[in-house]
Amino acid sequence: MTKNKFKKVALTLALSGALVLSASPFASPYAEVVETPIGYTSNGNQDSSKDQKIIKRVDAERAIEHIRYLSEEIGPRPGGLNAEKEAADYVASQLRSHGYDVEYQYFPVADQFIAEVAFANGDSWQMGAAPNGTLSNDPVSGEVIFVEGGTDASDFPADTEGKIVLMTRESSTANYRLQVDNAVNAGASGVILQSVVGGRGNYGSTFNPSLTQAYDIPVFGAAFIQGEWLKEQLEEGPVALELTAEQHSNLESVNVIGTKKSKNKKANGKEVILSAHMDSVVGAPGANDNASGTGLMLELARVFKGYNTDKDLKFIAFGSEERGLLGARHYVDQLTQEERDNIEAVFNPDMVATKYEEARNLYAMTVDGSTNIVTDSTVAAGARLGNSDILPGKFGSSDHVPFHNAGIPSALFIWMGIDSWDPLVYHIEKVYHTPQDTIEDNISSERMQSALEVIGAGLFDVVRKDVPGLD
Ligand code: BES
Ligand code: ZN
Repeated sequence: MTKNKFKKVALTLALSGALVLSASPFASPYAEVVETPIGYTSNGNQDSSKDQKIIKRVDAERAIEHIRYLSEEIGPRPGGLNAEKEAADYVASQLRSHGYDVEYQYFPVADQFIAEVAFANGDSWQMGAAPNGTLSNDPVSGEVIFVEGGTDASDFPADTEGKIVLMTRESSTANYRLQVDNAVNAGASGVILQSVVGGRGNYGSTFNPSLTQAYDIPVFGAAFIQGEWLKEQLEEGPVALELTAEQHSNLESVNVIGTKKSKNKKANGKEVILSAHMDSVVGAPGANDNASGTGLMLELARVFKGYNTDKDLKFIAFGSEERGLLGARHYVDQLTQEERDNIEAVFNPDMVATKYEEARNLYAMTVDGSTNIVTDSTVAAGARLGNSDILPGKFGSSDHVPFHNAGIPSALFIWMGIDSWDPLVYHIEKVYHTPQDTIEDNISSERMQSALEVIGAGLFDVVRKDVPGLD
């Protein structure tokens, strides 16, 4: 398989400061929350000796080894593609090695239009391909030129014929369509549009250019950093590329479910879930989003194998989260009402190890901002352990949403810096969803360790909590 090697470039961008997002209808319920919330008794045990069973054993370096395998050995893991299957196999073999029963759950997902940009030295980058451009494994080869602008025919030099044209994407779809049309008329053999800015102020991700007519050249959507890297290389001399693209059809994505049955008869089917999505967006190695959550889950699976629990415990790696929370939706959809009623808590780490300084806290986020057993158990664990990183909050956008919608207590764990809840003003690393979401650029061992301890201790408390009717 092709490994994605990304040239590392230090970037200084003016894109900084906090993000102001849509005003929330809520007041600021979290500003003052620092102590253990009332309404949650942690097994009547305020000392942290039980916590030590987890704290002493969890090891961020082991979790980061999983991140390394997923983000470097495999690389980008778009939902439904082979790379996601490789991630699934990796998770499954890890869970099996700890003695868990493992099951795969497949579900259909829509086609993916994936571009591959190959360099003479064998490196290659993944991008999005326009469904209406050429989709072929027969490479289009050519030299790259960078064209400034592109919405005007006069922007293209006389020698555009046969060249692969790189342009900075205009923000409106109508305008980037004009750029593509002009490049085609000037004789380009391929077009690469560089994305500029992402939805949450992050650097631009790869994308599938949307065109209204068919063109017989490949048209690709590059991540912002890929465009920068190409421009840098152009400054050093000519750059030759081979462009290929493929429509991947009849795709199946997959969830991997590892189960640890309680030996306690009175557990009576009650279960607790630790879940993390293993897929990433096209072109992104997804070290923090979300090899980090997957790595945390696998490390806790290793530590928990040594302990009996009073409830069933499931470790689930979801597929195709980035394509619309599809794995989690599928999982919840196929449960009977009785099975839903039996799920006491869903812990869903997603982006739990960023090194981005401004992401100061590990938030336990529910969809509606209410606290539940997941937020309470982890905030209480933080209080017992003297860990002041953990705070409750309100956020959607991950696999806890389908569980919440089915009435199942769930929360997302994510490192963020939140300046204000109303209006929502937050800091999140700019490299997420980009080729820069790598261990080197985006993973902190300390942040991972903190997340392992707090989530691990909270989860342990919940699975060891006496089941109703237990002596
Ligand atoms: N980890 C992100 C969610 C996220 C990112 C939360 C930044 C808070 C700040 C997740 O993998 C993601 O990208 N979710 C998608 C969900 C969508 C496909 C339904 C998103 O938010 O775009
Ligand atoms: Zn994501």
